[in-house]
Amino acid sequence: MSSFDEILSKHELSKEEIMTLLAAEGEEMSRLFRKSLETKLKHLDNCVHLRGLIEYSNRCAKYCLYCGVRAKNTKVERYTLTDDEVLECARLAHQLGYGSVAIQSGERDDKDFVNKIEYLVREIKKIDNGSLGITLSLGEQTEETYRRWFDAGAHRYLLRIEASDEELYYKIHPKDKRHDFKRRIECIDNLLSIGYQTGTGVMVGLPFQTLDNLANDLLFFKNKDVAMVGMGPFIPHPDTPLYEHKDRIPSAKERMNLTLKMIAVLRLMMPEINMVAATANQTVDPLGREKAIAVGANVIMPNLTPNEFRENYLIYPDKACVNDKPDQCQTCLDVRMASIGHKVLYNAWGDSKAFLNSH
Ligand code: 5AD
Ligand code: FES
Repeated sequence: MSSFDEILSKHELSKEEIMTLLAAEGEEMSRLFRKSLETKLKHLDNCVHLRGLIEYSNRCAKYCLYCGVRAKNTKVERYTLTDDEVLECARLAHQLGYGSVAIQSGERDDKDFVNKIEYLVREIKKIDNGSLGITLSLGEQTEETYRRWFDAGAHRYLLRIEASDEELYYKIHPKDKRHDFKRRIECIDNLLSIGYQTGTGVMVGLPFQTLDNLANDLLFFKNKDVAMVGMGPFIPHPDTPLYEHKDRIPSAKERMNLTLKMIAVLRLMMPEINMVAATANQTVDPLGREKAIAVGANVIMPNLTPNEFRENYLIYPDKACVNDKPDQCQTCLDVRMASIGHKVLYNAWGDSKAFLNSH
């Protein structure tokens, strides 16, 4: 057996081994992808879970240097969905058999916002007697807020660390009270201890990011023992400060391959977690989501935001599916998943097996 195949057959990977896998090209990269798919099928079968994505609001109090909806981008028209619009999206998710919704928003932590989310979670829970699972992705909040939303019925929370290396974190966020690396870690710890199925993740192909950083990101996920991970290629947005470094990042193809390798290696390290095939994958490659599923991801988040608002939620440019209607997405997803030997699992929450086994 070659030393590469020896690494592939291990259950515990050292940082050096992770870096070797992340550097794989050509035939070795294909062997990595075969192994990660095999691992996923063995532990999780060929099922893909859906989360209907509701982009609740693009109002945001933060200045993340990569993000198109950052507070300082004056080109964006700001919106917040009405209660009826949110509940209509949730009912649509239920009708389409998606099983779960994910509410995502720009970051706010004022009282009105916190109360509103609590109310919306309770209302969504009333649909067909609590049949929809609820994921929240609403940024950094106090422990009390996280607890209130959990008590209201949300059971999963996504908070990407974005970069687990403190130095890199401050290259992509301003260094101030509003963007505090330690606080972000604390938030993830709070989510875990409250009992959420907690998800985190990073962008791949950021300026200044090294292979060493990426290997440490994977070890960070493993150390925190998170239930879910989302990773997608970085896409430079012209109306953000990080755009000035767009020539320092790998090509779109390289960012895509690196994202796929990150997903594949993490699947070997954490065989039972939920991993999303991020929409950003489809932006850099029309078959990006299928490729992510085929190397180890098992969740897709079709967009349910009313079409008239989607143009205003462009975290990065050329986001996929901005003009598609939700029911088009459904047929499209069935066909796309069948094309790679997978099937969409309808009417199920699709909880993380890793989480269920450890609780
Ligand atoms: N390119 C790729 N992903 C991005 N995100 C934000 N901005 C970009 C970008 N320019 C990701 C972040 C965030 C998620 C909602 O979208 O990781 O957590
Ligand atoms: Fe939206 Fe395919 S998922 S059109």
